[in-house]
Amino acid sequence: MKPILDACCGSRMFWFDKQNPAAVYVDNRVVPHHEYYKNRYVEVAPDIVADFTDLPFGDKTFKLVVFDPPHLKWAGPTSWMALKYGRLEDNWPDMIRDGFNECMRVLDDYGTLIFKWSEVEIPLRKVLKAIDASPLFGHRSGKHNNTHWMAFMKFPIEAEGKPHEA
Ligand SMILES: C[S@@+](CC[C@H](N)C(=O)[O-])C[C@H]1O[C@@H](n2cnc3c(N)ncnc32)[C@H](O)[C@@H]1O
Repeated sequence: MKPILDACCGSRMFWFDKQNPAAVYVDNRVVPHHEYYKNRYVEVAPDIVADFTDLPFGDKTFKLVVFDPPHLKWAGPTSWMALKYGRLEDNWPDMIRDGFNECMRVLDDYGTLIFKWSEVEIPLRKVLKAIDASPLFGHRSGKHNNTHWMAFMKFPIEAEGKPHEA
C-alpha cells in the first residue's frame, strides 16, 4: 500500500504534485472536470470513492494521513463553495470526530496526521472539542489568518502516559 492517504482530496488544490505516486486520494464524490461557473473549473477525481468515517483500509496502513474536511455549513447546495469544498450537515461534530478517529485508525504507530481547518464559520476550539484531541503544533495561514494547519501523531496505546525517549 502507498504510504500517504488524503482522506478527502477534493480537487487536490494544496498538492504540489496532484498525481503524487506515494499517495492514495479518497473522496466521497466524483465531480467531472467542467466549467461550472464562468472561468471556474472543478474536478474531483479520487482514486477511491469512500466515506472518511468508514475507510476501506486496514488498521495502521499509512505513515501520513492528511484530513481536510468540509468546513462550511451555510453554503448553498449548488453554490461554487459547496461544489469546491463540500458542506457540513447539522451532525458535523459527529462526522468530524468519526472522520478524525478513522484517519487515526488507518495511521501507523508514530505516523503523522495533518489536519486542516478553515475557521470561516466554526471556531477551531469547537472542532478540537468534537475530536477530543490536541494538536502537537500548528500554523495559521490565509488572507484572514483563519486557516489552521495542525499536526497530530499517533502514539501506540502502550506508550500513552509514558515519557518518550529522546
Ligand atoms: C475542503 S474540501 C478538500 C479540499 C482539498 N484538500 C484540496 O486541496 O482541494 C473537503 C472535501 O471533503 C469531501 N468530503 C465530504 N464529506 C466526506 C466524507 N464523508 N468522506 C470523504 N470525503 C468527504 C468533499 O467532497 C470535499 O471534496
